[in-house]
Amino acid sequence: MSRLQPDAQLDDQGGLRHLLTLDGLPAALMREILDTAEALAAATGGKVKKLPVLRGRTVVNLFFEPSTRTRTSFELAASRLSAEVVNFDVPNSSTIKGESVLDTLRTLEAMHCDIFVVRHRENGTPEHLARHTSPGVSVINAGDGNNAHPTQGLLDVYTLRRHKGADFSQLAVLIVGDIRHSRVARSDMHALLALGVGELRICGPAALLPEDADPRVKVCHEFDRALRDVDAVIMLRIQRERMEQAMVPGERDYAAAFGLDEARLCHAKPDAIVMHPGPMNRGVEIESSVADGPRSVILEQVSNGLVVRMAVMAKLAGSAFGARNKGDGGD
Ligand code: CP
Repeated sequence: MSRLQPDAQLDDQGGLRHLLTLDGLPAALMREILDTAEALAAATGGKVKKLPVLRGRTVVNLFFEPSTRTRTSFELAASRLSAEVVNFDVPNSSTIKGESVLDTLRTLEAMHCDIFVVRHRENGTPEHLARHTSPGVSVINAGDGNNAHPTQGLLDVYTLRRHKGADFSQLAVLIVGDIRHSRVARSDMHALLALGVGELRICGPAALLPEDADPRVKVCHEFDRALRDVDAVIMLRIQRERMEQAMVPGERDYAAAFGLDEARLCHAKPDAIVMHPGPMNRGVEIESSVADGPRSVILEQVSNGLVVRMAVMAKLAGSAFGARNKGDGGD
């Protein structure tokens, strides 16, 4: 797997130039993004309210893989910051005639586009593009292969922080399922470890656990034991599209061993929250009674994705929104 180089995303002053990975992103910068998201949430009050942060800028959604949540929330986030938004239509573009992703980016750059939000099945594509952008142009990784999904990682820790407070050292968090193929799991682990989580556990079938788990992560094989006294459990989808061969049992056996239902959830703390990045396979990794139950924050994660993505783009634009604009009603 190609490894993104964290320095590629920072400028000479340590500010955010691109967002490619949470691996190596300074915790202070992560906290700044989370604080900015809080300030944006306070400024908009959850309502559709345009802020002038990206006025005069153009944001391009460049999605070479399907998406519901990430693509839509980037579109809404850019629009609420007053940017022009282009949803690049990959199936009807010249990429189908063989134009490379880099030539596509350069072509759009020539039309004065400023921020490219890129999802691609190949690991490292957003970093490759970031290395070839003109000054002032930024790339945001919206998910590359099984490598990284940094805005999902940020919105997950933002959601945790809103429920459990900013002191992550007091928290035990469990991630369950197809860790090996999950860019979300990787970005969540990078964020949680950087923010000093007290205990981080992962659990799943042996074939779906990473071969190179961080030594600070506790690898568990038995779900009920792994759930014991956790503050939050993050359930993951089986990523069959990223598997080279059948690596897991059928859905019924998988659900029996690693599906989250109400009985299992009793092993977690009584106030534990249930998270899932979506899309969910109901009845496989999670039962509907849990996904739609009182401890689920799954739709809150979706809502939080909007302000977190606004915060990331505000940071890239050099806006100190949280510090300067607290209480600014925008326009
Ligand atoms: N969580 C997530 O990335 O969902 P989408 O694939 O719908 O964007």
